[in-house]
Parts: sequence; C-alpha cells; structure tokens
Amino acid sequence: MPSNTLTSEAPDSVGTLIDGRAIAAQIQHELAGRITALIERGIVPGLAFVRVGEDPASKVYVGRKEKACAELGIFSQTHVLPEQTQESDLLVLLERLNADSRVHGILVQAPLPKQIRESIVYSTVSPKKDVDGFHPVNVGKLMLADPTGFQPCTPAGVRELLVRSQVKIGGAEVVILGRGNIVGKPMAAMLCQKDKNANATVTICHSATRDLAAHCRRADILIAAMGVAEFVKADMVKPGATVIDVGVNRVNDPAAKSGSRLVGDVDFASVRPVAGKITPNPGGVGPMTIAMLMSNTVRAAEMAA
Ligand code: GUN
Repeated sequence: MPSNTLTSEAPDSVGTLIDGRAIAAQIQHELAGRITALIERGIVPGLAFVRVGEDPASKVYVGRKEKACAELGIFSQTHVLPEQTQESDLLVLLERLNADSRVHGILVQAPLPKQIRESIVYSTVSPKKDVDGFHPVNVGKLMLADPTGFQPCTPAGVRELLVRSQVKIGGAEVVILGRGNIVGKPMAAMLCQKDKNANATVTICHSATRDLAAHCRRADILIAAMGVAEFVKADMVKPGATVIDVGVNRVNDPAAKSGSRLVGDVDFASVRPVAGKITPNPGGVGPMTIAMLMSNTVRAAEMAA
C-alpha cells in the first residue's frame, strides 16, 4: 500500500461537539425542583422583559427567553416601548418594576436606541433584580469574587459549558477575543479567579492586539466573542484546543430564502478538525445564555423569599 495516501497518514479527526442544547436542558431540569419548592411556598418566580424598538434580533431573543420561562413555570411579562422612547420614561417603568413584588428579575434587552444611555438604564435596575448582571454593584461583586452578586448570563453559560464538558480550566491558557462588557470582560474575570472551576491564565485580545493569531495559537481554551463572521480559522487554533463560539453575525447569502444567514465568529468547518472540543453554532452558547438567565431568576426569587 503506498505510504502517501491520505488514509494512512492523516487519521480523520474531528473536535467533539459541546452540546449546548443538552447541557442547557440539564440545567433547566435541575431548576425545576427549586421552582416547585418556591411555588409550594406561594412564590412564583417572575421575570420582566423590557424591549425598546423593533430590532429583529432582540425580538427573537426575547421570544426565546419568554418561551423558556413558560416551559419552566416562571411568570413573565414583556414591556415593548416605541423606538422614540425617552430615557426618563424607561426609567419610570424600571422603578415601577423595581417596586413590583411579583417581579424578581428585570431584563432590558440590548441594544437600546441611541437617545437612551445603557449605563443609566442598567444602574437603575435594582441590583437585587439585575438577573443580567449588568448593574455596577454586580459587576463589582464579580471582580471581587463575591458570590452574592448576579453574573452575566453568556459568560456564566460558557463557564458552565466548559465545566460540564470536563474541560480543565485550572492552569489553562485561555484566550478571549473581544473585550465587551457583556462577554469578554466578565468572562476574563470569571476564569482568572482563584477558585474551583477557574484559576486560568487569561489573555483578552481586541482590535489593537498585535499578532492576534499567535495569541490564539497558545490557547488551550479559545473563546471567540468579537462579532466578526467566521474570523477564527484553522491555522489560529492549537491542535486539541477547546473552541467556544459566542458570535452571532448575519451575513448575506443569496442562496438563502431570506437572502442572509447567521454565522458565528468561528469558521466551524475548517476549525473542527483541529479542535479537541468545539461548540456548534447555533446549539452551543445560545441556549446556555437562556439557561443561566433562568438560573439567575430562580435565585433572585429565592433571595427575595
Ligand atoms: N443583548 C445581547 N446579549 C444580551 C444579554 O445578555 N442581555 C441583554 N439584556 N441584552 C443582550
């Protein structure tokens, strides 16, 4: 048999899929007992969604979160405000929800229209109801490793995916692409804590990073959250690394009925053969964000009880 055939020299390897849907379902199953216990005490966990304007992606995301609430027996209400809403009117609504004892969690879906300052909005939600983990008190508690705070759902979901997929985080080289407040920065804070399921060496890369690919190739765990379609290619990944794709990017696709389709920040087809473990997209991080929101809401209800 000739020795230069593909079959003899390159065994077919593919990264194991990290099934976010299955892990999210497991987390939601674990929450069901806690929800029943609350209901037996006369407390129905409640979550209020606030959406401003008609951003199509936000509609889809809030719709999925409402569905998860309904499936778990969490009471939810959605407030939809017009695109032109003034900041002060949104703040009035938030103060009303802060004072409403049926509402244990409040989520204001980003992005917000430009006349509304996100920082003011997220500071107005009571830290006790801030199931998004965006209030400065909760951001501070994350930095201080104070477990009484709420942690942002997407990075918390990524950490759960790693832990439940038996990816070793302690001592690992973690490279995060993206320094946003929703994912990159809190993700780094979570994984570098001196704690069980953390204790990693964390690098955050961003648009000013020199030789970004070299940083990526050092990573045992590569987390892509910078919002550039299919940016991570096979030659940027260390063989056997764990690759987590947080990206959601809409790209033109004349072959699609709608003329476009969603892709992640990772070029999945080329990266999978190099990776040890990899999240599909969709079906990786997305369902975990929702599961962690449900988890934060149940905890907010338990704390209020
Ligand atoms: N927009 C994108 N991700 C998020 C999130 O985690 N929470 C909120 N409120 N808005 C978002």
